[in-house]
Amino acid sequence: MLDAPTAPVDPFATVVRRIDEPGTGAALRAAGPVVRAEAPAGGPVWIVTEAALARRVLADERVVKDPAFAPVDWNRWAAGLEPTAAEQPSLTTLDGPAHAALRKAHAPLFGARRMQGYAGRIAEIAREQLAVDGTVDLAADFTTRFPLTVICELLGVPADRVDQAVEACAGMGSYGPAEFAKVLGSFAELAAAALEAGGGMAVELRERVPEGMTDQELSYLLFGLIFASQITTDSALGFLVASALGDPSDDLVRDVLRRHPPAPYTLWRFTRTEVDLDGVRLPERAPILVHLAGINAAGEGQGLPFGAGPHYCIGAQLALVEMQVVADVLAADFPDARLAVPYDELRRVDRGVQGSRLVELPVVLRG
Ligand code: HEM
Repeated sequence: MLDAPTAPVDPFATVVRRIDEPGTGAALRAAGPVVRAEAPAGGPVWIVTEAALARRVLADERVVKDPAFAPVDWNRWAAGLEPTAAEQPSLTTLDGPAHAALRKAHAPLFGARRMQGYAGRIAEIAREQLAVDGTVDLAADFTTRFPLTVICELLGVPADRVDQAVEACAGMGSYGPAEFAKVLGSFAELAAAALEAGGGMAVELRERVPEGMTDQELSYLLFGLIFASQITTDSALGFLVASALGDPSDDLVRDVLRRHPPAPYTLWRFTRTEVDLDGVRLPERAPILVHLAGINAAGEGQGLPFGAGPHYCIGAQLALVEMQVVADVLAADFPDARLAVPYDELRRVDRGVQGSRLVELPVVLRG
């Protein structure tokens, strides 16, 4: 058995880079299919950098999401962990059959055909929110507000609560017990408003979840959908608009997801038992991440921008529709749109597991 090579770079450092400047992916990959780094919460983390191994790890029943299996000395808040599955059952904390049952409850809500059916309405929202005169920084508001407006409408959260959703998502940036309780309270209000208003997917989900799920647990599921849709699509839309206006391609959506994957890493996983990964031995409770960005950048097929295995992104079809719609609306309704700075001057901030996003995206949309 081998020890994994040590990462030659700090994969978790927050670094501002030029929009197309390579990140840490190539250096990590060159070090090996599994590399060891110092985790932000202390101790080792094993990072998988190779596509075939990543797919195997993401489908391995011995590698679980439940934070109950995190290293015992990890501080939950420093590590940015969710509650355990026992404390808070959800798509991102459960594993195995309990996770499969919850996926089954969600699946019909986010299928490809159903998402395509919303494309017209999503285009209306894009048109409305992009109709701004003068120079505007789309990364300051639009890329956050647009996906939140869409997910709120789909779930049935009343439109006058989108500002609250924007604020609640911003509150996820500072993670501590008091902050999390406060932010979760705000998300719970959004969930309650959707369930009370009716007519959206929140009510549908309530009818579909496994028997015995409490209102609080349902509320956490809705929080998961709202936050997961914002943090990723926010990043994706910034890179999409920048590329559409500054570095266009024939397959814009796929190219943007490959070159600027909004989720550069999977969420944390942990070994339930000792595991051998291509000859590298991992102890029990070993934290594992898959470096999706490096795998995508290496250009193996379409890469893995939405992950793989049982936890594959449930919102992938919605995200693809939102991105295509924004690209189409820009081209059709804003033919004079342009970047207000040269493309190469755009900067992104890489924030390790928190993902990457453009620092600013100044554009002139019309005139
Ligand atoms: C471009 C946009 C998006 C990207 C790149 C993305 C990426 C991902 C990735 C990589 C995972 C798997 C994480 C892991 O295995 O640890 C994931 C899971 C998930 N995503 Fe997305 N996502 C996007 C948009 C969305 C949207 C719009 C929603 C809202 C419905 C959403 C909801 C979720 C949820 C709930 C999970 C957890 C699924 C599970 O564990 O079973 N995502 N996403």
